[in-house]
Amino acid sequence: MNTTRRTFLKTSTAAVLGFPAILRGANLNSNLQIAAVGCNGKGMSDISEIGSHARAKYVGFCDVDSTRFAKADQKFPDVPHFSDFREMFTKLGDKFDAVSVSTPDHMHAPVALDAMRRGKHVYCQKPLTHTVWEARQMRLQARKSKVVTQMGNQIHSHEAYRTAVRLVRNGVIGKIKEVHSWQSNPGNKYTGLTALPTPGPVPETLNWDLWVGASTMVDYAPDVYHPFKWRDWQHFGNGTMGDFGCHILDPVFTALELTAPTSLEAENEGLNPYTWPAAETIRYVFPGTQWTLGGTIPLTWYDGGRLPDAALAQMPADKKLPGSGSLLIGEGGTLIIPHVAMPQVYPQDKFANFEMQKVEGSSHYHAWVDAALGGPRTTDDFDYAGPLTEVVELGNVATRFPGVKLEWDAPGLRFSNHAEASKALTKVYRDGWQIAAVG
Ligand SMILES: NC(=O)c1ccc[n+]([C@@H]2O[C@H](COP(=O)([O-])OP(=O)(O)OC[C@H]3O[C@@H](n4cnc5c(N)ncnc54)[C@H](O)[C@@H]3O)[C@@H](O)[C@H]2O)c1
Repeated sequence: MNTTRRTFLKTSTAAVLGFPAILRGANLNSNLQIAAVGCNGKGMSDISEIGSHARAKYVGFCDVDSTRFAKADQKFPDVPHFSDFREMFTKLGDKFDAVSVSTPDHMHAPVALDAMRRGKHVYCQKPLTHTVWEARQMRLQARKSKVVTQMGNQIHSHEAYRTAVRLVRNGVIGKIKEVHSWQSNPGNKYTGLTALPTPGPVPETLNWDLWVGASTMVDYAPDVYHPFKWRDWQHFGNGTMGDFGCHILDPVFTALELTAPTSLEAENEGLNPYTWPAAETIRYVFPGTQWTLGGTIPLTWYDGGRLPDAALAQMPADKKLPGSGSLLIGEGGTLIIPHVAMPQVYPQDKFANFEMQKVEGSSHYHAWVDAALGGPRTTDDFDYAGPLTEVVELGNVATRFPGVKLEWDAPGLRFSNHAEASKALTKVYRDGWQIAAVG
C-alpha cells in the first residue's frame, strides 16, 4: 500500500467516525478530481452544481450517447470523453478521487460499486439503486471502502425539508401517530405502453449495449426508453415510487428516525411484465421511535392520483392537499410537508399565532465535495440513503405481490413469510455484468 492509499484510509476512517478528516494526502490543499457518469438531464445539473464548488475539478465525462456531452463541454471545456465508465475508471486510475453517477436507475449500482471498490467517493442519484439487494450492497461497500458518499436527493438539504424535520423534533404537533405520503402523478405516464414497443434503428451516436448495461437486453425503440422515459419500465426504472419516494419520504425518514419496516402490503391497478402500475397504495408498518406514539407507526404511500383522506389533515375547507408530499398526524395537530414548499401546521385556530422558524438550507452538492476534502460528514450518506432506498424498493417488490402482507426480516434480507417475494429483492444480471456481493 503506498503512502497516498494509507493516508486516504486513515483520513476516511476519521470521517466515518465523525471526526473532520485531515485532508487526503494526494490532494492536500488541492482539488477534488471528479469523473461524471451520465452527462445530460439530471447529470448536467449535477455536473453544474458540483462543479460550482471552487475546489471541484472534472477530469472525465462519460456518456453512452455522444450527443449528450455538449452542455457539459460548454460549461467545463476540455474534459476527456468516454462512453464506457469501466474504461474511464481504468484509464484515469489514480487521477480521479470521486464520481458522480447520474445514469438511469438500473446502472447506479454497477457504476457506484465499481467506483467505491476502487476507493472513490460517490455522489449517486436517487433512488440509490434498482433493487433492495443493491441498496444493501451500496451501504456495505461504502462502509467497507470508507469513502464519502451522498445520495442525490438534494431537497434533503433544502430549507423546506429541514424546517419540517425541526418542527417534528420540536414536538410542535406532539408525537406522531401515522403518516401518509403521496405523489399524484400517474405511473407509466411517459409511454402509456404495456407491451414491448416496436423496435427501431439505434442512432449512430448511441451505444445501446452500454445503455442497457446490467439489465435484460431489449431492442432499442425510439422515444420509449432513452432519454428520460426509461422510468416507466421495470427493467430500467422504478416507476413513480422510485422516482419520488426517496424525495418525499426523506423528511419523514429523517425526522422520525425510521429504520426498516416490519411489514408492508401493496395494492394497485394491475401490473404487466414491463411497466410499473398506473396507480398504487403501499401500506408500511415501522417500529415506533422516540418521535412516534406507540410501538409501531403506520406509513401509507399513494400514487397515480390516489390521495389520503383530506379530512385527516384538519385543514380549513378552502385548502387542498398539495399534489405531492406527506401528512403527519400527531397527538396535537397535523403537519403537511409539500414536495417542495414550506411545511404547514393545522388546525388553523390552534396554530393561528404560530411563528415558523425557518431552518436554512445549504448546497447538498457542495456538502459532498467538502466532506471528501475532509470537511464535516454528509447527512445523506449511504448509511442513511441505503436503508431509505430499501424502503422505496421494498414498496416496488410488494407491488409485484398485491394483496399480500409481506413480513420483512431486514437483517436476513428476506421476507420471513414469502420465498417468491424474497427472490424479487434482486434481479438477473446480464452476462458480464453480475455484481459480487460485498464480502
Ligand atoms: N434528484 C433529482 O431531483 C432528480 C431529478 C431527475 C432525475 N433524477 C435521477 O437522475 C438519474 C438520471 O435521470 P435523467 O432524468 O437525467 O435521465 P436521462 O435519461 O435524461 O439522462 C441519463 C443520462 O445518462 C446517460 N447514460 C445512460 N446510461 C449510461 C451509462 N451506462 N453510462 C454513462 N452514461 C449513461 C444517458 O445518455 C443520459 O445522458 C436517475 O436516476 C433519476 O432518478 C434525479
